[in-house]
Amino acid sequence: MIRDLVMRRATVDDAAALAQIHMEARAAAMPWLAVVHTPDEVFQYFRQVVIPGSDVWLAASPAGIAGFSARLGNELDHLYVAVPFWRQGVGAALLKMAMLTVPRLQLWTFQRNSGARQFYEGHGFTAVAFTDGTENEEREPDVRYRWEEPYDHA
Ligand SMILES: CC(C)(COP(=O)(O)OP(=O)(O)OC[C@H]1O[C@@H](n2cnc3c(N)ncnc32)[C@H](O)[C@@H]1OP(=O)(O)O)[C@@H](O)C(=O)NCCC(=O)NCCS
Repeated sequence: MIRDLVMRRATVDDAAALAQIHMEARAAAMPWLAVVHTPDEVFQYFRQVVIPGSDVWLAASPAGIAGFSARLGNELDHLYVAVPFWRQGVGAALLKMAMLTVPRLQLWTFQRNSGARQFYEGHGFTAVAFTDGTENEEREPDVRYRWEEPYDHA
């Protein structure tokens, strides 16, 4: 468990670092996934679309940015942890922040991404739909997950 994380909102100055984490984490977790964008396209996407348009939080460690999440309303669009920081609680810290902010969340992940699926299911997310991948850019079957805050009867 990593202890000295600081959570802060991302700015456009973080775009290059977030794009790098996104590309490296995807390649490491999903080496079978089609790469459909150049590194510059990914950078521009983070700089022009994701960071200005979503609620983007990053976990900063003394060794650099450890991971980030991007939420738009109830949609968790991105959750990526830098590969050297995997399985030290960074993803859980980012996900728990999002779960404290809104009472329900939904997201897409790829069906073959078994690590992410175990991660989300461990945090109470339920698979609610499966696709054959024809609607996504990578043409890879994906799965829809949902989480809802338990109703407090007290
Ligand atoms: C999925 C991801 C966000 C998890 O972040 P993390 O910081 O490594 O996760 P945490 O340390 O908070 O939680 C670890 C737990 O999640 C599950 N988990 C995470 N990665 C796993 C893997 N590769 N295989 C199996 N279980 C995994 C396990 O339950 C694990 O607990 P354990 O280490 O005690 O077995 C991270 O691996 C990642 O960035 N992956 C690539 C990008 C991605 O798939 N993002 C999500 C889909 S958009």
